[in-house]
Amino acid sequence: APGKADAIARANIALAKYWGKSDDRLNLPAVPSLSITLDPMRTETRVELDERLDADVFELDGKVALPKETARVTAMLDRVRAESGIAAKARVTSRNHFPTASGLASSASGFAALAAAARAAYGLTRDDAKASAMARRASASAARSIYGGFVELPAGEPGDDALAAIPRHDASHWDLRVVVGVITEGRKDVGSREGMGHSRETSPYWRAWVESAPAMCGVIREAIAARDYERLGPVVEQSFTTMHALAFTSSPSTMYFQPASIAALQTVKQLRDRGVPVWPTMDAGPHVKAVCPGEAAAQVEQALAATPGVLRVLHARPGAGVEVG
Ligand code: DP6
Repeated sequence: APGKADAIARANIALAKYWGKSDDRLNLPAVPSLSITLDPMRTETRVELDERLDADVFELDGKVALPKETARVTAMLDRVRAESGIAAKARVTSRNHFPTASGLASSASGFAALAAAARAAYGLTRDDAKASAMARRASASAARSIYGGFVELPAGEPGDDALAAIPRHDASHWDLRVVVGVITEGRKDVGSREGMGHSRETSPYWRAWVESAPAMCGVIREAIAARDYERLGPVVEQSFTTMHALAFTSSPSTMYFQPASIAALQTVKQLRDRGVPVWPTMDAGPHVKAVCPGEAAAQVEQALAATPGVLRVLHARPGAGVEVG
């Protein structure tokens, strides 16, 4: 076995949202989701086997990670050890190259990079479907970051531990851009894992979400295949508003919107009223992510940057899948 490997994986933004699980233990999504893997937000991870260690060591952005974070890394490494038959513990060093507070979670790129690097370090032959399934166990959105471009993660039947993402089109398929309006730093939101669990337990709309999400994902899949922005945009919006309606109607309510989120959503609507093709999406936080064709990106950036409460804007484009070295 090589004993040491590096991997780079990128963040992703879901156009069709994953929200809620069908199996908590295996971390299987109750709905299909579809995302764009993004440049330039990425994580670089090195895994080095070390016979002298009696526990894995995880260093994140130059600091020894919290026990809770290390436990999630060890859980993944335990699976790699079981598959490879090599018992050695490992030193894991991970670095995020994210524009500060981008509002694009680093857990997806982080677990994707870890899965790929760990499999290589323990001498397993490269197998992206297995790496994707392994990343999914840690964080379902991470399954999608194994692949570049436009990637779907199907809903999982309880027990289906092999569930992996499916690459639909590579990054060159369509020059869509994601312009992020960064809104507030610091304030801690309800994490997606906690938020989606709470939605399933308490929102009266849970069943409606599970029943309606596959059709939305299907339209998004078809619109991407046809590069049909006019068909894509409204459903991208509806996927996120339906997800947030679920969070909003959980009890007690989980609300991710800040006043500036609403202002940014209005900016996006006003741009559209002026003929600019742009539709919004949001995740488990206040940031507004505007999705538009490349030609519209400069105008969208300018308008979002001028919106009160938007601290800065970031610009992302379709990026490559995991790179293992
Ligand atoms: C709103 O993948 O972070 O970003 O599987 O519990 O780790 P776990 O959840 P996570 O949820 C992502 C939710 C989302 C939508 C999406 O990325 O599809």
